[in-house]
Amino acid sequence: MDRKIPRHIAIIMDGNGRWAKAQGLPRTAGHKKGADMIRTIAVECSRLSVEVLTLYAFSTENWKRPQDEVSYLCGLPKLFFNRYIRELNERNIRVCFIGELERFPQETRAVIEDAVRITAGNTGLVLNIAINYGSHREIVLAARAYAQDVAEGKISNDIDEEGFAHYLMTSGYPPVDLMIRTSGELRISNFLLWQIAYAELIFTPVAWPDFDEAQLNACIDEFSGRDRRYGGVKG
Ligand code: FPP
Repeated sequence: MDRKIPRHIAIIMDGNGRWAKAQGLPRTAGHKKGADMIRTIAVECSRLSVEVLTLYAFSTENWKRPQDEVSYLCGLPKLFFNRYIRELNERNIRVCFIGELERFPQETRAVIEDAVRITAGNTGLVLNIAINYGSHREIVLAARAYAQDVAEGKISNDIDEEGFAHYLMTSGYPPVDLMIRTSGELRISNFLLWQIAYAELIFTPVAWPDFDEAQLNACIDEFSGRDRRYGGVKG
């Protein structure tokens, strides 16, 4: 049987801190290795012709972490894109972000905007990075925007599911087919709640810094072997 490749893969990249601790390293070393794995997994998704890879890099709750760690995480996009933007661009990968980016320092935003601009014309994999993102917040913002459009008479008050999806930050992307969470936690943690309605879920004990091409391919094999019925009956 043909191997089915998901059109849209979403990953909750968890376990950087525990990975670092297990190696006797500071938590930030786990985040640094984790950022390098973004490149590895994006390149593999691109090779496999996945359309969209959405990664949870920073939640609306992550601001509660110690100031040092928050600062380090805010600086990571610069390290990452300085190192990898040229390669991502050469591989026809388009970098996008979802989340409320305004809250990040100006320097972080500038780096992000550059990466988006440089790769805007690319037609391959969409590498979609969620930062200061929370799904409840996304849905509330979408509801507000829709209400505003109704109030202004731009749209009638009978929107359907497909119409509402256009107000979400993932507008234009296919629904998530496969959601993976690394490092053993069995939670969704406010990530893409609308978009995963019919996604297959895989929870792996492997920490994100150890989640390499082989791990990704094992998840895709499992996905490919599952019987997706979307609420229907077996055909
Ligand atoms: C979860 O591990 C990981 C994060 C909260 C941060 C993820 C961010 C990156 C991998 C890099 C971001 C880079 C760019 C380019 C945007 P954890 O710290 O919660 O690990 P723990 O649960 O073991 O403590």
